[in-house]
Amino acid sequence: MRLLFVGFGVVGQGLTRLLQQGAQSLRDSFGFEPTITGVATGSHGTLAHPAGLDKNALLQAAAAGGMAHYPRQDGLLRNEGPLAMIEAGLADVLVEVSPTNLVDAQPALNICRAALDQGMHLVLANKGPVCIGPAALESLARQRGRQLRYEATVMAGTPVISLSRETLGGSGVREARGILNGTCNYMLTQMEAGMSYADALAQAQALGYAETDPRADVEGHDAASKAVILAWALFGRSLRLEDLDIKGITDLDRADVDEARAAGERWKSIATIDQAGARVAPQRLPLDHPLASVGGVNNALTWTTENLQDVTIVGPGAGPEATGQGLLADLLVIHRQYQASP
Ligand code: HSE
Repeated sequence: MRLLFVGFGVVGQGLTRLLQQGAQSLRDSFGFEPTITGVATGSHGTLAHPAGLDKNALLQAAAAGGMAHYPRQDGLLRNEGPLAMIEAGLADVLVEVSPTNLVDAQPALNICRAALDQGMHLVLANKGPVCIGPAALESLARQRGRQLRYEATVMAGTPVISLSRETLGGSGVREARGILNGTCNYMLTQMEAGMSYADALAQAQALGYAETDPRADVEGHDAASKAVILAWALFGRSLRLEDLDIKGITDLDRADVDEARAAGERWKSIATIDQAGARVAPQRLPLDHPLASVGGVNNALTWTTENLQDVTIVGPGAGPEATGQGLLADLLVIHRQYQASP
């Protein structure tokens, strides 16, 4: 399987490390030996090689500042844009890991459409295209007989999308409610341990949890985009982000966090998705509430269903490798199907 990465920031690098470090076990357990034939970034250069790029050299080039630091290699192309690489049939799967744009999802949305049109599978960690145009993308993927997978867009590699779309099928989900932003949850946990808002945010950024523009995290838009994606995955409803009630954690400070703790409560940023729509707001929960004990970068989601009552999953919601795992799981689904009927 040949992969074209669009974007090569913390998430793209996280997936590359998983592919590199897990190469032997992925080969032995799944017969999975992907090559990265192209990397296209917005401002850190592009690389393409039909025979595959060296994963370690890619990681070193990224650490050194960009693709210009990748060593010389016969047949290496350094100036191809993503659309040219797609049209040239350089890869089988587009791995969309460029920064999320929640306004119009561009330029990723056009690149995603071009990839599906060209007969490529599409795997995303970038929330923009799935949040803004899921119906059109799904329909294009179906027309072309290709997979559109986006496990990594919500709760990183903690598998809430496959549960929502597949495994909980027919369970009669009435509502999903949970903590969907790792940065906010990490910050609230650190603030309860005594850190200031600004220091907690800086630490979340240094750990690769925050969005390129962290206002999306702290103002609630990132969690809201995940709620929109879940509404699509669960109910086939295409909500518009601008129609949601969204409140972030920007008004909370150490004093609020301490006051809640003194009252036996804890602030959490909670997203709710049901048939009526979706919303995001900070809420004070009693300490014995199941979501109150979800700390650090962990996220959680509870589905309220008819057939199973409540089902809850807790796990990492952000971070390079955690998000890379969501992409890896999607790639393996495509690989299995591909092996069965290429
Ligand atoms: N910035 C996001 C978060 C990354 O903190 O949850 C994962 O989508």
